[in-house]
Amino acid sequence: MLDKVIYIAREAGEVLRNGFGKNFLVEYKTNVANLVTEYDKRSEKTIIDFIKKEFPTHSVLAEESGSHQSSGEYLWVIDPLDGTTNFAHGLPIFSVSIGVLKKGEMVCGVIYDVMRDAMYTAEKGSGAFCNGRKLCVSTNDDLHKSVLVTGFPYNVHENPDFAYERFTAFLRVARAVRRLGSAAIDMCYVAEGVFDGFWEVSLNAWDMAAGIILVEEAGGKITDFAGNATTIFGKQILASNGKVHQSMINVLRV
Ligand code: IPD
Ligand code: CA
Ligand code: CA
Repeated sequence: MLDKVIYIAREAGEVLRNGFGKNFLVEYKTNVANLVTEYDKRSEKTIIDFIKKEFPTHSVLAEESGSHQSSGEYLWVIDPLDGTTNFAHGLPIFSVSIGVLKKGEMVCGVIYDVMRDAMYTAEKGSGAFCNGRKLCVSTNDDLHKSVLVTGFPYNVHENPDFAYERFTAFLRVARAVRRLGSAAIDMCYVAEGVFDGFWEVSLNAWDMAAGIILVEEAGGKITDFAGNATTIFGKQILASNGKVHQSMINVLRV
């Protein structure tokens, strides 16, 4: 199963790599900040055509085409291009993210950081890897020495939901705060121990599914902002190395 997910993530990544930097169609989704390119759709079609052929009984939840229900117990949760704004503006930070659930439980996740050719993979109970190298979260337990990462929803202007307050609160206490523009890659870097923590609101299941299992399998912790268990359908995500988790919860309290 994992090998098949890796195979198709790489194929979709190839579609994106071929389109990167070219002239392509860009449309608005909900507002001027929320873009979709023809490559989001091409990448998604590549993945869904593969699933239909190889696993006709599996269901799919994909960002651009929504829910494709089938009879089986597997569900593929797909972000065909995480980091569309970066892609559309020529910034080489974007990924393909695919998580697979069986009877509602995450079984594996794959995030392909296309331009770094970095394949992040995790299977339940078997650890997390990047290009075959085992990943482990950082050991830092001091928020003041932490490098953190976050992102903002496309409607942050109309519905800030304390995003600015939380961002500036972390700027005051952390060593540094980054905003890369691909939530999936943010979580890869938490799993890899590059970032100590990541938080964001209003993400969708396809942004988080693969990242959640990746961080957990690398020894990290995933909760909502209050420290409660969350799922891929949750509206808040806090992903950390576990050691700075409580300190981050204290800052997130508004
Ligand atoms: C977005 C990215 C970004 C995050 C946004 C997401 P998209 O996904 O993950 O980092 O801050 O909230 O919507 O639209 O590029 O697939
Ligand atoms: Ca996304
Ligand atoms: Ca996307």
